[in-house]
Amino acid sequence: MFKHSFKRKPLSMLHEEMKNDNRLRRVLGPWSLTSLGIGCIIGAGIFVITGYAAQYKAGPALVISFVVAGLACVFSALCYAEFASMAPIAGSAYTYAYATLGELFAWIIGWDLVLEYTVASATVAHGWSKYFQNFIGMFDFHVPELLSKAPFDFDPVQGNFVSTGCLFDLPALLIVAFLTIILVIGIRESSRFNNIMVAIKLIVVLLVIGVGAFYVDTRNWQPFAPFGWTGLSLFGKTILGKTGADGAPVGMLAGAALIFFAYIGFDSVSTHAEEARKPHRDVPIGIIVSLVICTVLYIAVTMVLTGMVPYGKIDVDAPIAMAFQQVGLRWGQFVVSLGAVVGITSVMLVLMLSQPRVLLAMARDGLLPESFFGDVHPKFRTPWKSTILTGIMVGVMASFIPLGILAELVNIGTLLAFVIVCAAVLIMRYIQPDAKRPFRCPFVPVVPLLGMVFCLILMFSLPPANWKRLGIWMLLGMIIYLFYGRRHSVMARNSES
Ligand code: ALA
Repeated sequence: MFKHSFKRKPLSMLHEEMKNDNRLRRVLGPWSLTSLGIGCIIGAGIFVITGYAAQYKAGPALVISFVVAGLACVFSALCYAEFASMAPIAGSAYTYAYATLGELFAWIIGWDLVLEYTVASATVAHGWSKYFQNFIGMFDFHVPELLSKAPFDFDPVQGNFVSTGCLFDLPALLIVAFLTIILVIGIRESSRFNNIMVAIKLIVVLLVIGVGAFYVDTRNWQPFAPFGWTGLSLFGKTILGKTGADGAPVGMLAGAALIFFAYIGFDSVSTHAEEARKPHRDVPIGIIVSLVICTVLYIAVTMVLTGMVPYGKIDVDAPIAMAFQQVGLRWGQFVVSLGAVVGITSVMLVLMLSQPRVLLAMARDGLLPESFFGDVHPKFRTPWKSTILTGIMVGVMASFIPLGILAELVNIGTLLAFVIVCAAVLIMRYIQPDAKRPFRCPFVPVVPLLGMVFCLILMFSLPPANWKRLGIWMLLGMIIYLFYGRRHSVMARNSES
């Protein structure tokens, strides 16, 4: 009954599909790909989540959290790069899993990528809303309190959910609606538009580092790791380090698990493989260079932030902009808020663009209804139905569910995807040792194994409730696969005929 569920899609079939006329135009070079990576990486993670992570999880040791999460990503990125060079077509990790682990794993990872792209978009929309409100607040404009945030939130001091007294987050809803319309009518994030947004974002980040450095008071780095150096739990029980009020581990590692969010996006470069001029060379460059640049910037920004403001006083809504206000630089607050609003918009745009592409790849393989997810609008030439569905899901989550819950759910889902990609590289080396690998991940099996270990450690450092949420999500996915994907898959049809 499950015979074909473990059947792998041959690399030759992927290469055949790449020749199909119905492919995207190959216009992107190494710079554009790197810029797309940075466009999707630097966003709500560094501009928003650092505040909560520094104040409640790691203190100034958050700098080391960034190093640890960065290492997990570098190991995984090297594995992504090897795959992206072997099969440079849309679909990213989903496609790689299909070629190595078979259809069932491909489905699992595709379903999991919904957590990465759709739920991450909702998280980022929250961050956008916070910076937008911070920005207009400087001119004494305010969104009515009732419409300013999600109706409930997690109180890390009390350790439970509390009502915020609000109805929903209107700015988050509006930006999602706006971007959905743009994506449907097809003003796809053109490379030039993205380059401009990335340039603004980088200037602001460099400004934060350059100007902020003059306001660092090294006394703020003492104590350096007030929550400890670890923070690891195993299915609900803290096994290393202290436990926070919410029952979740705290410490440097727990901080790394949370701010891992800031790195998400480098893998979206691989979803653009189909548009790369020299995908075998440039996609690995785009993935690795964008990740390394962001890692260095993140470490510098976190040092400056925790040096400017005592960790207990770092703002949790707009930490970086408010740090400038806290040291008396109003113009800095203005520039950072504006840069964050622009920068976070580009992250949302790329994430919301990537989701329908993965769904499209799954629909082409028959795992999702092609009439819906594969339907390209006759005039706009965009996968409009799945773009609208993505927009609705992002909008609902962004306006009603608090940021912390969304971010952790994204992290656990993405970490799982990375673990599978690292494992897939090892398996592929074993089952197809002679396949052409224009980019080879160095030091195999050490690097993929380290990638898996680092990602698993971070998964275990997330609050245990996330494992339950991930389990429920995966169960739902399995039900859909059993009742739909398994029966309609193109591979299944081919093996019957
Ligand atoms: N890494 C992206 C961000 O921080 C998702 O917004």
